Amino acid sequence: MTGTALVTGGSSGIGAAVALRLADAGYDVVVTGRDPGRLDTVAAACGGRAVVADLATPEGVETVRAAADGRVRLLVHGAGLGWAGPVHDTPPATADQMLAVNLAAPIRLTSALLPTLRTLDGHVVFVASVAAIGVGGEAVYSATKAGLRGFADAVRLESGVRVTTILPGAVDTPYFARRGTPYHRAFPRPVSADRVAAAVVDAVAHNRSEVFVPRWLTLGSRAHGAIPATFARLSRRFDPK
Ligand SMILES: NC(=O)c1ccc[n+]([C@@H]2O[C@H](COP(=O)([O-])OP(=O)(O)OC[C@H]3O[C@@H](n4cnc5c(N)ncnc54)[C@H](OP(=O)(O)O)[C@@H]3O)[C@@H](O)[C@H]2O)c1
Repeated sequence: MTGTALVTGGSSGIGAAVALRLADAGYDVVVTGRDPGRLDTVAAACGGRAVVADLATPEGVETVRAAADGRVRLLVHGAGLGWAGPVHDTPPATADQMLAVNLAAPIRLTSALLPTLRTLDGHVVFVASVAAIGVGGEAVYSATKAGLRGFADAVRLESGVRVTTILPGAVDTPYFARRGTPYHRAFPRPVSADRVAAAVVDAVAHNRSEVFVPRWLTLGSRAHGAIPATFARLSRRFDPK
């Protein structure tokens, strides 16, 4: 499958790595983000187009929709941000920003672009997180990613469009510096953004519904579902906080 791929969060980290991999695979790539300089660098590297837009605003979502409507065949939701700390200390504005960018924007954008994606036999990829199963100290972030996973599952069932959810553990990107708290867990060890990007391209090629990166995190998710109390005990033990 090739055609036009729209990658949000294309100015950095996972989104930038996905954009480069998709260009290599033959897609016409449109990357979106807020930082024009970093976005232009990625767009130039993939021979693609840059669209500057703030996905925390309805205007920004509309700008991105308009740039891709009628031609997007692969939609990759890579934009997102995090915050770590006790839930009662989460600044309300940061919580609102996470809800807007991580959850509301992908919902709005997917809904608006579904007619095009259906017509073009398209595919949607949501970059969620292993935090979708609930990570202590990342309550609001976890909620946005769990919401994204549920939305993806529902769209897969009802739309006739192929849908993939990617659930990475820690990834070596500017994400941690931006959220203001370094990564501190003993494991999982951070993987490269390119490893996540390779998983995205493979998932699209093979129409995989859900992919954890690294793959062994799938076991953690299954344990979370099957033996929740044991899972919670182990999670606390491996989190040195
Ligand atoms: N790094 C990890 O350990 C990890 C693990 C699991 C899941 N994830 C998820 O992977 C996705 C990508 O994260 P990353 O690690 O690649 O982080 P990153 O390097 O910080 O990239 C985040 C991207 O999101 C964009 N973004 C943030 N706020 C935005 C806004 N208001 N409007 C438009 N774009 C916005 C940024 O664009 P600008 O900088 O141009 O604004 C940037 O391109 C996120 O959804 C994150 O939750 C990350």
